[in-house]
Amino acid sequence: MLTFLVASAFTGRCASDVRLLRRVGLVPEPWCSSKHSKVRGTGTVECSKNKELQTAVHRTSSAYSVLVQDLRLHLGPPGAKRPVLKGVNLYIRRGSLHMLLGPNGCGKSSLLKVLGGLVVPDSGLVQTDQPSGFVFQNPDHQVVMPTVAADVAFGLGRYKLTEAEVAFAVRSALRLVNMEDFMYRATHTLSGGQRQRVAIAGALAENPKLLLLDELTTFLDREDQFGVLQAVRSIASAKEEVTAIWVTHRFEELQFADAASYMEDGRVVFTGTPDEAKLFLRKRGAPV
Ligand SMILES: Nc1ncnc2c1ncn2[C@@H]1O[C@H](COP(=O)(O)OP(=O)(O)OP(=O)(O)O)[C@@H](O)[C@H]1O
Ligand SMILES: [Mg+2]
Repeated sequence: MLTFLVASAFTGRCASDVRLLRRVGLVPEPWCSSKHSKVRGTGTVECSKNKELQTAVHRTSSAYSVLVQDLRLHLGPPGAKRPVLKGVNLYIRRGSLHMLLGPNGCGKSSLLKVLGGLVVPDSGLVQTDQPSGFVFQNPDHQVVMPTVAADVAFGLGRYKLTEAEVAFAVRSALRLVNMEDFMYRATHTLSGGQRQRVAIAGALAENPKLLLLDELTTFLDREDQFGVLQAVRSIASAKEEVTAIWVTHRFEELQFADAASYMEDGRVVFTGTPDEAKLFLRKRGAPV
């Protein structure tokens, strides 16, 4: 089996522990030269210095932003590792909002971590557009700065940007999640959904091509839930080169998706349109 490992082009919004690691220099900087790139395979690798950001862009050569074949991963302490991903196959179209469903413990978060380069798999083929940006379930772990603008700008400190370039990147990212008017607000005054949108803006400010969104609406009420979903929907619609993978347990969110996959026991057992996903889930007795 051919094996590609996607480099940890790790530029996204992450939990505070990851931020801390970054501050002390333990998390790799995004690569920006083929010399430093660990990306191998058929995708094209291109480095660009645009006005807003110094970014490294990797695109798979097909219409898919994510290609995964027979991906296997074991996790656990040495000597007691157990299989978590047991041969995952997955194709996700570039520019789509793809939902990932499945019962607790089936491997959704582990799969996202592999796609984001946070965990190195044991074997399989993984090709993704890069860089990727991560947003996690609990916004309190991610929105850590006193004001919205400072929080969105947090990750940009690693780039050599002028003040004007940072301001432009922050404002553009906040506009995409419909939070531009909140730019100078104190983060502790925001609702859970607004904080999640700020966390997404923090990831977006770094210009990711792949957004990895792990159960963002778990702690949100209905209004906030749909506000966040709508923001992600409009990002995927407005920026055709950006793909979003949205992990959820909430079946009513399927209506926002372009496509969906269902995982079970470390494998993807279904991929199709939202309507096909509903049929699949109903056959399994789910209240969809
Ligand atoms: N670091 C780890 N060491 C050992 N086992 C792990 C580790 N991380 C996850 N697992 C196990 O891997 C399996 C998949 O976990 P994962 O978090 O990916 O599932 P999930 O589908 O995201 O679940 P949930 O819906 O509860 O978030 C679970 O059985 C979990 O206990
Ligand atoms: Mg999970």
